[in-house]
Parts: sequence; C-alpha cells; structure tokens
Amino acid sequence: MSEYILVTGGAGYIGSHTVVDLLENGFCPVVVDNCVNAIVAEGHKTPESIRRIETITGEKVIFHNVDLCNKKDLESIFEKYKFSAIMHFAGLKSVNESVSNPMNYYEVNLGATINLIECMKAYNIFNIVFSSSATVYGIPERLPIDESHPVGNGITNPYGKTKYFIEEIFRDLAKAESQWKIILLRYFNPVGSHVSGLIGEDPQGPPNNLMPYVAQVAIGRRPILSIFGNDYDTPDGTGVRDFIHVVDLAKGHISALKHINEVCGCKAYNLGTGKGYSVLEAVEAFKEASNKDIPYKFAPRRLGDLGDVHADPTLAKKELNWTANWSLSRMCEDLWRWQTMNPTGYNPNEKI
Ligand code: NAD
Ligand code: UD1
Repeated sequence: MSEYILVTGGAGYIGSHTVVDLLENGFCPVVVDNCVNAIVAEGHKTPESIRRIETITGEKVIFHNVDLCNKKDLESIFEKYKFSAIMHFAGLKSVNESVSNPMNYYEVNLGATINLIECMKAYNIFNIVFSSSATVYGIPERLPIDESHPVGNGITNPYGKTKYFIEEIFRDLAKAESQWKIILLRYFNPVGSHVSGLIGEDPQGPPNNLMPYVAQVAIGRRPILSIFGNDYDTPDGTGVRDFIHVVDLAKGHISALKHINEVCGCKAYNLGTGKGYSVLEAVEAFKEASNKDIPYKFAPRRLGDLGDVHADPTLAKKELNWTANWSLSRMCEDLWRWQTMNPTGYNPNEKI
C-alpha cells in the first residue's frame, strides 16, 4: 500500500506541482487546504488546481477543505489517515499584505504551524518538509548563499519573518526532542508551470512577483512592466535572482522525502539553480519564449528589495541527490503556455 503524505496548501502553486510528483512517485497525497488562495469553480467543492491534477495524472486526489488554524478540524484529518510524513506548504505569502496586516500573517503562518506540530506529536508523526524561503538569509553577506550563511538578519517584512520564526521553532523542537526529522527547504525564485499548461501560478490581483507580471504584460492584461531599480551593483544595474523551474522545485520535495529518514534533527537545504539572472535578462528570455513585446519602464527601487540573491545548491546535490535541470528559457516557455491556455488563471469569469 502506498504511504499517505499530508500536503498542507496542496491546492496552491508549488503544492499542486508537488502533488503531481508525489502521485507519479507512488505516494498517496492527502491535500488539506482552506482555499484562501485557491479558486474553486462554481458548482464544485474541489479547487480547480486539484481537478486539473486529476486530469494530468488520471488519479483521484484526496482533498479536504480544512483551515490549519482550526485545530479540531486538523485533528480529524490525523484521526482519519496514518501519515508517514507531512509536507507543509500552507500559509500566506504576500509581502505587501504582510506589511499592512502583520498580525494576520503571524496568526496564520505561525498558528497553523503550531497546530500542525501539536497534531503531529499527538499522532506520533515526526517527519516534516517545510516550505521556507531564501528570504530568511536577509541581506546577503556573501554570494552564492550557502546554508551556513547567517539567517534572520535584515529581514524587512513580516512575511519573511514568519519564515524565519517557523525555522526557529523547528530548530528548537529538534533540539528538545530527538525523534524529529525536519527538512527546511529554502526556495529561491520559483517560476514556470507544469508542461501540460493545466496547472500554474494564479496570482489574485496584480502580481507582486516579476515573472507572473511579465506574463500578464505579454498577454495584454497589464500595459507595462515597471522595473524596480536600475542602479544596483549588478552587471546591468537591475536586480539579480536565482529563478528555478517549479517542476524542479517539486522534484526537490520528492528527493527530500526520500532522504528524510537519514535526517537527524533539523536540516536546511537551498533549492535554487546556482545561477543568477538579471531582471532585464529574464524579460529578454520571456520575450524570446513568447515572441511578444514586453514594454517596460525603469522605476525607483522597491522598498526592502535586494540587489543580487543566488544560491549555492551544492548541499542539496550532495545529500539529496537533487539538482535543478531546467533553464530560464524553459521556465519562460512553460509559463507562457500556462498564461496563453489560462489568460485569467483558474477563474474563467475574471475579466482580462
Ligand atoms: P500559494 O498561496 O499558491 O499556496 C499556499 C496554499 O495554502 C494556498 O492554496 C492557500 O489556500 C493555502 N492556505 C493558506 N492558509 C491556509 C490555512 N490556514 N489552512 C489551510 N490552507 C491554507 O503559495 P505557493 O507559492 O504555492 O507557496 C507555498 C509555500 O511556499 C508557502 O508557504 C510560501 O510562503 C512558500 N514560498 C513560496 C515562494 C514563492 O515564490 N511562491 C517562495 C518561497 C517560499
Ligand atoms: C519577493 C519577496 C520575497 C519572497 C519572494 C518570493 C519582496 C521585497 N520580496 O522576492 O520576500 O520570498 O518574492 O515570493 O517583495 N521586479 C520588478 N518589477 C516587478 C516585480 C519585480 O522589477 O513588477 C524585480 C524586483 O525588484 C526584483 C526581481 O524583479 O529585483 C524579482 O522580484 P520578485 O519576483 O518579487 O522576487 P524577490 O524580490 O526575490
């Protein structure tokens, strides 16, 4: 019988891609999501992303609409299935929103994680893979950033702080109780979508992140891209990021899951490609992939932004046997396929 894996936030962007991989690797994912950032089509109970995973894989996906902040409801899921591990994606992720409403971010991101840990303890489950972020490194002291780089200094927004605080909770837990096996995956900049074009990133409202914004300019949903800053200490003056294909990222989770029993305590891994591209290079790559013009203008730096952030992914290669394989042009091709097949994301009624 295949192992049950609890996937919190599995209806979201990264979670949905990982669910596809879990199914393809013979695991049985149980998705728990409250759909706060997932579209449910009229007349359905299951989010659109989950229904599309079923189309991609030909398998039925177990889905429960549960808010992790409701401990009773979460407990009922642990009562129902014997999980061998947890993948914890659920949380709020908008940097802007977290600045204007910090308490909501602390309550949801920390509250959900604490409930989850308490349920795990109550049901004797100690294996967890957590969605962390390169944001925990704050302002880079050196490049590329490896896992021994200090964390927690200079994080400029509450969203980023929730990631750091959750990491701290996990580190303390692993120190206090020896049975825990915790993997913190620090994502760099996920881009792209599944090759089918059926699942992808579906920002509600104007995208905060670069590549979804570029894709919406290309399809005509937004008139022009603002490039925030052209005076950074980088080759062309625009920000440099380590863009990683979301399918590579999903595969990193499967590698982490397969390795988790070797972990003693709490271990962090970078999931990035190791190569930085500037905003202008990324725009150029998207132009080529889409064959569309991307009008842009330079605008002042965005508050809290950093110049160059890219990973040293050596540890994940060595210990998880994982490397990112797909290029920036492939990320753009797949993102463009998703954007053209779903001009308004998962919601067909939204105006372009
Ligand atoms: P997403 O918003 O698409 O997915 C998160 C999912 O969690 C959503 O489907 C949402 O409905 C669900 N959710 C939120 N609060 C919940 C709650 N209280 N109970 C149950 N479900 C809840 O985000 P994503 O891009 O797929 O990110 C997944 C994880 O990875 C998040 O924790 C995010 O912070 C982290 N991360 C994302 C990025 C990125 O660029 N996308 C980078 C670094 C880290
Ligand atoms: C942002 C978040 C970070 C989060 C990450 C992944 C901020 C300050 N940081 O990081 O906490 O973990 O997303 O979700 O918001 N850019 C433009 N025009 C745009 C959008 C972005 O020029 O319309 C530039 C940015 O200035 C940056 C680069 O593109 O140089 C990448 O931006 P983005 O995709 O938002 O990612 P991060 O800045 O790495």
